[in-house]
Amino acid sequence: MMKFSIITLFPKMFAALTEFGITGRAITAGQAEVVFHNPRDYADNKHNNVDDKPYGGGPGMVMQVAPLRAAIKAAKQETADAPVIYLSPQGKPLTQAKAAELSELPAMILLAGRYEGIDQRIIDRDVDECISIGDYVLSGGELPAMTLMDAVMRLLPGVLGDAKSAEVESFQQGLLDHPHYTRPEEIDGQRVPDVLLNGNHAEVEKWRKAQRVEQTQKLRPDLLKD
Ligand SMILES: C[S@@+](CC[C@H](N)C(=O)[O-])C[C@H]1O[C@@H](n2cnc3c(N)ncnc32)[C@H](O)[C@@H]1O
Repeated sequence: MMKFSIITLFPKMFAALTEFGITGRAITAGQAEVVFHNPRDYADNKHNNVDDKPYGGGPGMVMQVAPLRAAIKAAKQETADAPVIYLSPQGKPLTQAKAAELSELPAMILLAGRYEGIDQRIIDRDVDECISIGDYVLSGGELPAMTLMDAVMRLLPGVLGDAKSAEVESFQQGLLDHPHYTRPEEIDGQRVPDVLLNGNHAEVEKWRKAQRVEQTQKLRPDLLKD
C-alpha cells in the first residue's frame, strides 16, 4: 500500500483523483491511501495567514516557512522515511521512468505550492526533491501533485486490471504506444488494418512493434535519441 501525504491549501481539489476511475478504485481497494495536511491549520496567527509579501519587493505573495514546516513535520510523524517532494516548475521533469521509480516507495510527502511559490528556506532544508510536470506555469501544485499520483498509482501492483496494460503503454522501452482499434471493423469507409483481424498473434505483435517505432519516429523523434 502506497501512502501519499499531501500538503495543500486546497485538499478538496484532490476529489478529482480520489473519487474517480482507476485512482478512485485503488483508494477504495486499499492499494493507496491519501491524507492531507493543510498549512492553514498550522498557522500561528489569528487570521490563519500562510503567506506574506516577498523580501526585496515584487508582485505576489510567498508561502511562509513556519506553517509549511509544521505541516511537513506532522506528515513525517505518520510516514517516517517518506521523501518530501515539492512540485515546482524548477524541478526535474516528471517522466514515466521517474513514476516507476517512485512507485517502489512505501510513502511520499507531496508539497503543493501556491502564490509565487514557497520560501526558499523550505526547499533548502525540508525538501528532498523538486519535480516539474512540464515547462509551463500553473496556479498551484495541486494539479501537478495529482498528475504525479495518477502516474504512480497505475503502476502499483493490482491497480490496473491487466498488469500488461502498463507494460505496453507509451514510454515503456522508450517508445510511444501503437494505434488501437475496436468494433466495428469498418466505419465511414475507414477499415481496421487486416493484420488485426486474422487472429495471427505473432503477426499482430510484429505489426504493433513496427507501429510503435514508426509512431515514435513520426511524433517524438527526440525519444529515439537515447
Ligand atoms: C504560480 S506557481 C509559482 C511559479 C514560480 N514563481 C516560478 O515562476 O517558478 C505556484 C505553484 O504552482 C506549482 N506549479 C506551477 N507550475 C508547475 C509545474 N509546471 N510543475 C510543478 N509544479 C508547478 C508549484 O507548486 C508552485 O509553487
